Amino acid sequence: MIERTLVLIKPDGVQRSLTGELIQRFERVGLKIVGMKMAWVDKAFSQKHYAAHVKKPFYAGLEKMITEGPVIAMVFEGIHAVELVRKIVGPTEPRKAPPGTIRGDYAQHSYEYADKKGIAIKNLIHASGTKDEADVEVALWFKNNELHSYKTVHDVHVL
Ligand code: CDP
Ligand code: MG
Repeated sequence: MIERTLVLIKPDGVQRSLTGELIQRFERVGLKIVGMKMAWVDKAFSQKHYAAHVKKPFYAGLEKMITEGPVIAMVFEGIHAVELVRKIVGPTEPRKAPPGTIRGDYAQHSYEYADKKGIAIKNLIHASGTKDEADVEVALWFKNNELHSYKTVHDVHVL
């Protein structure tokens, strides 16, 4: 039930100097950072990370966006962490993302606008969509010795 999930602050979030505010959104519900790094994604790594999207029409724009500057990659650990992080992040399209979600509070792109400009939706965060996706993505981004465990902290202070 205690899960790990991958979160990226995408290049638009780093460029807008929102990293601190965005990390706080996850920490304040009690999620624990168990891994963190800054990295500049190249085209080959983008194709691995977004393997499920490589053949889709929006992939070219997505690759351009995710490789345009460094990202902050994090693994968060917590109860139902995959679902909890997605709830905090909100739906893919900022236009539809409710206030209170990251994508609703900090972004305004729509599919219509992005498609017209021929660019990817700028929505600040990547978050694993399912437990299976999280397991694959955490292993892609982090070696075992780059991840830490907060099990004792959870048992004593949170749960
Ligand atoms: O990030 P999320 O899991 O919510 O959405 P996704 O369907 O896995 O798509 C990955 C990313 O591709 C999105 O976050 C958008 O940045 C981008 N995208 C886009 O630009 N246009 C689309 N029609 C769909 C996705
Ligand atoms: Mg996704």
